[in-house]
Amino acid sequence: MKIVKLLILVLLIAVVIIQFIPNDKPEVVLTNENDLIYNNQLPENIRVMLKESCYDCHSNETIYPWYSYVAPISWLVVRDIKLGRDEPNFSHWESQSKIDKAKNLDKIIDEVTDENMPMPIYTIMHAKAKLSDDERQLLAEWAESYAESLFE
Ligand code: HEC
Repeated sequence: MKIVKLLILVLLIAVVIIQFIPNDKPEVVLTNENDLIYNNQLPENIRVMLKESCYDCHSNETIYPWYSYVAPISWLVVRDIKLGRDEPNFSHWESQSKIDKAKNLDKIIDEVTDENMPMPIYTIMHAKAKLSDDERQLLAEWAESYAESLFE
């Protein structure tokens, strides 16, 4: 028993210590003039899906949940947001060429239909972000028709 108590104590101390390791959270920017939603009249259901299921990681408008302040989970959250904001970043959408938009839309179709996105680990804590099969199909159809409309 003694050894178990000692191990728990060591673990607790370790958890406290790692809270002091710097972990820079990507900044939140709410006004993004090149934002996808801001610049385009998206169907309401698509707008809501993108906002609720993708924007925390793929835009500058991240809403940080409480656990994003607690190491070591915060390290994973920050990693996903940095990678997610890298591409596609919906806050920078309009600054891309048509070709890049089309490429990103194509990737969105793949990621959504293959059920890779939104990341399954994210939907455990964000039930609203879960997409049904119908919603996945709607999102993919929207991305497809948007991509086509770019070259009309
Ligand atoms: C919890 C954070 C998170 C959420 C939420 C999320 N993504 Fe991602 N996404 C990532 C990360 C991290 C990557 C890069 C690593 C990877 O490919 O797994 C990525 C990559 C992508 C890529 C690029 C894939 C490639 O092959 O380059 C696309 C497209 C994408 N996500 C679309 C979406 C869409 C659409 C949604 C919403 C339906 C979404 N993501 C929700 C974190 C997220």
